[in-house]
Amino acid sequence: MRKALEGVRVLDMTHVQSGPSCTQILAWLGADVVKIEAPSGDITRKQLRDLPDVDSLYFTMLNCNKRSITLNMKSARGKELFTEMVKDFDILAENFGPGAIDRMGFSWEKLQEINPRLIYASIKGFGDGPYTHFKAYEVVAQAMGGSMATTGFEDGPPLATGSQIGDSGTGMHTVAGILAALYQREHTGRGQRVTVAMQHAVLNLCRVKLRDQQRLAHGPLNEYPNEEFGDEVPRSGNASGGGQPGWAVRCAPGGPNDYIYVIVQPVGWEPIAKLIGRPELIDDPEWSTPEARLNKLDKMFQLIEDWSVNHGKWDVLAMLNEHNIPCGPILSTKEIIEDASLADNEIVVKVDHPERGEFTTVGMPIKLSDSPAEVRRSPLLGEHNNEIYGSELGVSEQELAELKANGVI
Ligand SMILES: CC(C)(COP(=O)(O)OP(=O)(O)OC[C@H]1O[C@@H](n2cnc3c(N)ncnc32)[C@H](O)[C@@H]1OP(=O)(O)O)[C@@H](O)C(=O)NCCC(=O)NCCS
Repeated sequence: MRKALEGVRVLDMTHVQSGPSCTQILAWLGADVVKIEAPSGDITRKQLRDLPDVDSLYFTMLNCNKRSITLNMKSARGKELFTEMVKDFDILAENFGPGAIDRMGFSWEKLQEINPRLIYASIKGFGDGPYTHFKAYEVVAQAMGGSMATTGFEDGPPLATGSQIGDSGTGMHTVAGILAALYQREHTGRGQRVTVAMQHAVLNLCRVKLRDQQRLAHGPLNEYPNEEFGDEVPRSGNASGGGQPGWAVRCAPGGPNDYIYVIVQPVGWEPIAKLIGRPELIDDPEWSTPEARLNKLDKMFQLIEDWSVNHGKWDVLAMLNEHNIPCGPILSTKEIIEDASLADNEIVVKVDHPERGEFTTVGMPIKLSDSPAEVRRSPLLGEHNNEIYGSELGVSEQELAELKANGVI
């Protein structure tokens, strides 16, 4: 069966996390992704290593299903080989610091001259303006995209979330841009520039907090647990501040992840009141309606917690789901990596690697019935030099040896 992006070729000049998370998805959709690395390799091959002299999990978990070539883009021959490849590829993706590709001698204008069908995607920290030339990492984007100000508890400092919304979140936005550009090229015959700023991607994911910023002008945010409001959206702990109240309540035996997140929809109140042993609250006007409960959500969740602390989170999950009450136990990373249903869904998958042996990674979260993803290991540094420069670009064996000796590849 042909894969969705079979025949699409991606020159992948991404590094670290944001860019590689994007091109890995393209590879799982069936594109031929060729990762160009400086001869020293993507810096993450050596970062956070758990085993000596073996590509880190940081690298192996973000670069599956790609081929790897090395190329020194600052050498004259390197630029020639790159030019040859650009002619033959559909997509160039990169996330270097601002201006790096231009400094290599490849402006967008130049790239268009070489290949007018090329789609050129870049991830940067920021859009045009005062921050354009600034570098950015995950938490910088969380800080400047609205996430940190709205994450955490009211009386604590701003918090970073563990979800990599700045890096992988931006990578996923970039996938959407690239796929749209590929589709538009079907009609125009032309490639185009795709740019995504990490600050913008985080802000897109924090959209509802700007909703609440504007609601504040018309009064307090009653769905928030906070008692006092100033002129900016406060951190609201584990309350989403959305239409249905929710909170993480403690469970037995009281470990750091023995919590369950419970949402109380209007229809959920009656079964919850029964479950927690407070059936008299079902018809009590002080408790019976969502409006009546709104000003005492903290008390409501305390009542639920007084019950849940006596049960394990898996039992609470079962009991609440018997009544169709939306809830989710807080799963630790250990529980997730050992979860049978996630393995069955091939979202937690095991991959073999010639140097590190078997490792676990997160598989393809987007399921296509006609284009199922097969997760294959990440490439070793320069593993496909001979295949791509030799067989595909026609570089002779002798020159290949010279290029290696001269540090071009
Ligand atoms: C992540 C980031 C902060 C890292 O910064 P950094 O480690 O200083 O690396 P940079 O990307 O700025 O620079 C890479 C350098 O390597 C060089 N380089 C990269 N690939 C090369 C190659 N194949 N051959 C020769 N040189 C190469 C670049 O030309 C650049 O050199 P220059 O600054 O002299 O022009 C930066 O890349 C960045 O802001 N990226 C955009 C936002 C982003 O994606 N951040 C999240 C990462 S998860």
